[in-house]
Amino acid sequence: MPKKKKPIAINPAERIAAMNKQSFYLTTPIYYVNDIPHIGHSYTTIAADVLARYRRLQLCDVFFLTGTDEHGQKIQKAAESCSKTPHDFVDTVVSKYKNVWKSLNISNDDFIRTTDDRHVQRVKKIFKKLFENGDIYLGEYEGRYCVPCESFWTETQLDDGRCPECKRAVEKVKEKNYFFRLSKYQKQLIEHYHKHPEFVQPESRRNEIFQRIISPIEDISISRSAVTWGIQVPMDTTHTIYVWIDALLNYITALGYDDDMTLFQKFWPANVHIIGKEILWFHGAIWPAILMSLNIELPLKIFTHGWWTIEGQKISKSLGNAIDPLSIIHLYGTDAYRYFLLREVPFGLDGNFSYSALISRINSDLGNDLGNLLQRALTMVEKYFDAAIPEYSEDEDELKESSQNTCDQINKELDNLQFSKALEVIWEFIGKANRFIEGKKPWTLAKTSAHRPQLERVISSLAKAIKDISIFIYPFMPNTCVEIQKQLGILEGDEPPCLEYQQSMRNGIIVKKGNPLFPRIEKEPENSGKETTMPSMNKKTF
Ligand code: MSP
Repeated sequence: MPKKKKPIAINPAERIAAMNKQSFYLTTPIYYVNDIPHIGHSYTTIAADVLARYRRLQLCDVFFLTGTDEHGQKIQKAAESCSKTPHDFVDTVVSKYKNVWKSLNISNDDFIRTTDDRHVQRVKKIFKKLFENGDIYLGEYEGRYCVPCESFWTETQLDDGRCPECKRAVEKVKEKNYFFRLSKYQKQLIEHYHKHPEFVQPESRRNEIFQRIISPIEDISISRSAVTWGIQVPMDTTHTIYVWIDALLNYITALGYDDDMTLFQKFWPANVHIIGKEILWFHGAIWPAILMSLNIELPLKIFTHGWWTIEGQKISKSLGNAIDPLSIIHLYGTDAYRYFLLREVPFGLDGNFSYSALISRINSDLGNDLGNLLQRALTMVEKYFDAAIPEYSEDEDELKESSQNTCDQINKELDNLQFSKALEVIWEFIGKANRFIEGKKPWTLAKTSAHRPQLERVISSLAKAIKDISIFIYPFMPNTCVEIQKQLGILEGDEPPCLEYQQSMRNGIIVKKGNPLFPRIEKEPENSGKETTMPSMNKKTF
């Protein structure tokens, strides 16, 4: 687990806000471990990490949860196909997930596995509670089941006989199952949606799910008698708990519900569950109904993001086009990858990954705009001031107001999870700083000693602007923040970065110009857009 750094507010207004609003709980979905993570999974986790880091900058006490969804038929089948026991199989894939999150610099505070004993015991207790509340009954399920989506479907929901979600073949299922009285909560759900229009975002998704919620709702099957790899139903060990119920409960079992309530009392209700659009029904209808049955407050927000395709195609194992985030990080670095995913597509919409788009962002936004700004500024500090940044005066800083406006706008966008817009705002400021150099022409000022004071002001304002930029980009690109601050000379060795936005520059700082932040990339990797760079989880991988 990454060590928590001392939180520092991005500006004084946020510091005050943080005093009133101490906690911030955010979650990602827990990922199925039938296969190793691809860029789609990394997208959700990176977005959550940016939000967590941003909230920590605001002095919030953040609890950022991610984890893995390890039970169910799909995992059982994946393990069988590798001739592994489910236990051994999930352990291997989980370690791969953890490894990718580490390489992506993910700062989660906990990692829950649905095979964790703490989770298993708490799920059993909660299931029993739901049963005792009268919300679970034994019935018979007859319908279709999509194993890849772990979803029950009725005949009428099918799309040409296939799963309406992933379009794959479905299985016929007829089994005695326990049911949850979802229909009982329909009225309460509708009321909640009316009362809290911001509950599901973006609005288009909210409208979509609301339509489903006001349509007839049936009770749902919540156990499987044909599946053994799962948590046993406490009052009937011939059944396992439906994997989606097991999984959704992670959001509260990780907080100790209900035998160790310290974290729960501090962090629940969740401020936001970040999810992909395909699992909104589970989070926007089933999850709230379960919480209502347990008499627990609902999460404040569910933010639904779009899906990535790869070079125009759906990411799929059968197409063999899933890309391992590690292969991209290896070529272009963690921060370029994090930047690209959040900059390229407005959060909430679908996006398309291509190497050409990634390279173009690296060369133009990161190399030309940001990298060159730093290089040019440091070259001038070296050339005109023997590498010592001239004394900074807030009153004479012509970029100060623009920096403050930028900070305010970033806060506004990130409060609404509009990552790409926040980055646009930051890049406008970077553009402004570059134009500031063009406009002030320090090289001309340097020619006359009478212009020395003016030259000092220009260069020190520029250095301060770059320091501000390093803080603005911190939630998105933590490594680059550190690198910029090292080259600026305000960081030494392995100290944590300076994240105090308002703090002015210390006097007498000696810059240490290093390599360009993002060297130009000339060509795409050999096999881009064709074969997968991810070894799929077949027998060979294990
Ligand atoms: N295990 C369930 C979630 C249970 S949460 C209580 C599950 N797992 S999953 O591994 O299939 O997908 C989890 C998430 O990965 C999706 O909701 C989405 O956030 C992300 N993505 C998976 N593929 C994706 C893309 N192609 N593009 C973007 N994100 C996608 O569903």
